[in-house]
Amino acid sequence: MTGTPDLDPLDLSSLDFWGRPMAERDATFRELREQRPISWHRPPEGMLMPGEGDAGFWAVVRHADIGHVSKNPKIFCSGQGVQFQDAPPELLEASQSFLAMDAPRHTQLRKIVSAAFTPKQVRTIESRIAERAERIVDDLLDHGDGDFVALVAKQLPMGTIYDLMGAPVEYQDPLAEAADLLVATNDPDVLENLGLEDPLQAAGQALAGLLGPALELAEARRRDPRDDLMTNLVAAEVDGQRLTDDEIGAFFVLLSVAGNDTTRNTIAHAMRGLTENPDQRAWLVEDLEGRVGGAVEEFVRHGSPVLTFRRTATQDTELRGQDIAAGDKVVMFYESGNRDADVFADPLRLDLARDPNPHVGFGGGGPHFCMGNMLARTQLRQIFSQLLTRVSDLTVGEPETLRSNFVHAVKTMPCSLGG
Ligand code: HEM
Repeated sequence: MTGTPDLDPLDLSSLDFWGRPMAERDATFRELREQRPISWHRPPEGMLMPGEGDAGFWAVVRHADIGHVSKNPKIFCSGQGVQFQDAPPELLEASQSFLAMDAPRHTQLRKIVSAAFTPKQVRTIESRIAERAERIVDDLLDHGDGDFVALVAKQLPMGTIYDLMGAPVEYQDPLAEAADLLVATNDPDVLENLGLEDPLQAAGQALAGLLGPALELAEARRRDPRDDLMTNLVAAEVDGQRLTDDEIGAFFVLLSVAGNDTTRNTIAHAMRGLTENPDQRAWLVEDLEGRVGGAVEEFVRHGSPVLTFRRTATQDTELRGQDIAAGDKVVMFYESGNRDADVFADPLRLDLARDPNPHVGFGGGGPHFCMGNMLARTQLRQIFSQLLTRVSDLTVGEPETLRSNFVHAVKTMPCSLGG
């Protein structure tokens, strides 16, 4: 970067900011969207690798600009990291797979698994997802009031992704816990509860919890192939070469993190939104089958379960008139793009009839657009179809949220079955 730009007076880098509710954070993003759509900020607090010459980042907060950055990977690349905060290269290599790569390697690796996530393929497993959603609601009815996250929101994404991967049922809870820890390293309460000293130690523990079982499973599938994603991974070849254990491990970590937490949090935020907006719920229930597809889009927009992803400028460029130098970090704030009043009328309102709804919850387009979007949409449709017809008085209380600048996560949230 040539010269350091002036720091914006609003602070997107403190851990305190990311501990506040999204509605409060939006006042900050609204000011940025309206007055300084491209702004410069100090490096975020709570980094896995603090200091070490990190200058800061450009914040991209408008819907159109998130689309522009996402769709121009030659100028805004992923290969130098996609997280808001820096992390040691070994950690990135072990955990991010093709998420943090550029073409042509990104294209080759994504292709190995993307066939399992196409709309057509997801339709073939929809009945399995529906049965699982039905069982989860059976169990909720048996159990009664409790923690909505543990009883419902966590269950469907966990079962779905590990079923696809081929991970045995008894591995699923510990794997999901390790995947959660990997995105919770910034939350001091999480570290304290687990007796962990710092974010790096937490990340190491999380990775060990994922990689051990991943490599065991890989070995089992080499010996005894089945019809699952791990079998595809161990058999896959890129340029005539099998994937290494490290590459298989990183695939498994990426799919574990991407497949669990995101959909779980969308389910939790959506249930909270329905509880707080009984008029919207009544409208949805009136024609559930006809309206649930559109409602799911609004759940993703309103909940914005993934908050940020980063790119790095590969050349000097400009964004909305602001010069960006080669090597500068550029962070996209999806929650802000999803509240851009130029695109969404009354953006803070949960409006299940919103149409069109071109949200950036799954990313702003381009080669990294969420590979699991159809799988997530299907799970959301199925779980709400069950919940809203079979537990018609279900309500949830105040969520306890995670302090994170990456995911908008609900740790726990009480639910009452009513009646
Ligand atoms: C509501 C749930 C979900 C949300 C909000 C979400 C959001 C996102 C976002 C914002 C990105 C980055 C897009 C970009 O950089 O342009 C992404 C990428 C990704 N998502 Fe999702 N996701 C969800 C569910 C899932 C599920 C269920 C899976 C299944 C494994 C999944 C797998 C992935 C993968 C593999 C990538 C990386 C794609 C690439 O780099 O090419 N996601 N997701």
